[in-house]
Amino acid sequence: MIIGVPREIMHGEDRVAATPETVKEMVDAGLTVLVEAGAGEGSFFHDPEYAAAGAEMVADCEEVFRRADLILKVKEPLFNEAKGRSEISMMHQGQYLITFIHPAAPANHEMVKEMASQGVISLTLDGVPRISRAQNLDALTSMSTCAGYKGIIMAADRHPAFLPMIHSAIGRIDPLHVLVIGVGVGGLQALATAKRLGAVVHAADIRPMAAEQATSLGAKPVDLHVDPAKAIGEGGYALELPEEELEKERAALAEVLPDMDIVFCSALVPGCLAPNLISEDMVKTMKPGSVIVDISIDQGGNCAITPPGEIEVKHHVTCIGIKNIPGMLPKSSTLMFAKNIANFVNFLVHDGQIVLDRNDEIIAKTLTTIDGQIVHAGAREAMGLD
Ligand code: NAI
Repeated sequence: MIIGVPREIMHGEDRVAATPETVKEMVDAGLTVLVEAGAGEGSFFHDPEYAAAGAEMVADCEEVFRRADLILKVKEPLFNEAKGRSEISMMHQGQYLITFIHPAAPANHEMVKEMASQGVISLTLDGVPRISRAQNLDALTSMSTCAGYKGIIMAADRHPAFLPMIHSAIGRIDPLHVLVIGVGVGGLQALATAKRLGAVVHAADIRPMAAEQATSLGAKPVDLHVDPAKAIGEGGYALELPEEELEKERAALAEVLPDMDIVFCSALVPGCLAPNLISEDMVKTMKPGSVIVDISIDQGGNCAITPPGEIEVKHHVTCIGIKNIPGMLPKSSTLMFAKNIANFVNFLVHDGQIVLDRNDEIIAKTLTTIDGQIVHAGAREAMGLD
């Protein structure tokens, strides 16, 4: 079986889907691995290291797509400007693809339809369920960890003041106050990072369990006044709040926002649009120079005026809507991503063949297109196919 690792073509994307270490693991398992020349340059893994690990280096991406049985990628297939054709058009019937597809997002519907009609068997990493068996292949969790860390570093960099307390000859300069809204995987990492940098940290989440974890990391909890019966579903997971509860939450946040210097937004109920928690009027009450990092922007954002994919100053507040924060930490995010995806390959391949057990929860939730059909439940619902 042949694995193909093309160079990523999204603008500014420095990650790659395999490292020399994961190539070696796959080669040792009896697989042939084709790596496009230069694919690891952005994350500081060089061609000779891949070759030494047993990869066959291939100069042309079209050859990688033509020869591979399974393509491993970081980002969804895109249009390759240099070749004048889409990556999907380089793929073939029955070829497998593992990557982040976000198939329910309307912006990706055309691409998903194209994959289906090209006969590609695609599996999306954002569908991996958060169950213990799937932990080592959960790239979304790894990437949220990267986004939590790097998002706070970016905010600290953009903020015009010292973040920690500074003692100097002119007296004491107080530390910044950081509020994290939605203390899941990304939020907890953001909290820990802000705390390590010396900020006073505050946390807001509708799950009491998350608020408890945040408190144990040294955060001051913000009471959102949300009815727990409406906020917590089966298994302790967050529920999408009805509008009247969101109103209460916005009112509670409006009280604390004027005292915050950095607000990190990562509130999300998986499969839903991100809750709209900060209105434009609320942003206007923030201190000039404050920073909002909204990592839930792929799902619409927690702040109403976050610019998708951009950084803009609005009402004297820097609003960060970068969608690809892990790509700005390419070495660490590639190490984590490549390991997750190699574990996924190991899970799928038995005796040199991919075995798709569609009754397995991991397959059922990640499989997006097969046999010319779109089978991903969220995508089908969003496209009105059911
Ligand atoms: P998660 O599911 O671990 O955490 C989300 C948290 O939000 C949970 O603790 C939940 O209780 C909380 N929440 C839900 N509704 C809430 C509400 N109304 N108010 C307050 N809290 C609420 O999610 P994870 O993995 O931390 O991801 C967070 C977001 O970051 C997602 O939108 C994900 O797609 C995004 N992300 C963005 C990246 C980027 O580069 N921009 C990179 C990686 C992830």
